[in-house]
Amino acid sequence: MTSLLILNGPNLNLLGTRQPEIYGHVTLQDVEKLCQDKAVASNIQIQFEQSNHEGALVDWIQAAKSKHDGIILNAGAYTHTSIALFDALTAVEVPAIELHVSNVFSREAFRHHSYISNIALGVICGFGAAGYTLAMDAMLGHLNSS
Ligand code: DQA
Repeated sequence: MTSLLILNGPNLNLLGTRQPEIYGHVTLQDVEKLCQDKAVASNIQIQFEQSNHEGALVDWIQAAKSKHDGIILNAGAYTHTSIALFDALTAVEVPAIELHVSNVFSREAFRHHSYISNIALGVICGFGAAGYTLAMDAMLGHLNSS
């Protein structure tokens, strides 16, 4: 069965209460439920994780090599700083999609650069919580065509 790792970085545990004018009112638990429902409907399995710690995210990416067919990564602020996440994604050779709830390109200039984009199949940003299921569809389309 196809398996996806859906990984969330720092401060995404605060979705729903953190700057709702930017990130919306949907909580991370709501997002996980959306993804689980989508997984059942698509007959796939998912592992949904969040950590505020860069090393924990690296560990999950490394473990994905033998476990998952694709990675959907909202790395939060580590998107813009983390060579370690870029290296981990490069090392495991599991296809990855970069995801953001907000439209990072309509925000501060420091959010316009991403280390993840260098290795990502593509980027989905600005569609709020719906971006998670859009990313699942995009990954399943990619896996089915390759
Ligand atoms: C984010 C965008 C990042 O710039 C920010 O640091 C986040 C969340 C998003 O989902 O829009 O923490 O990844």
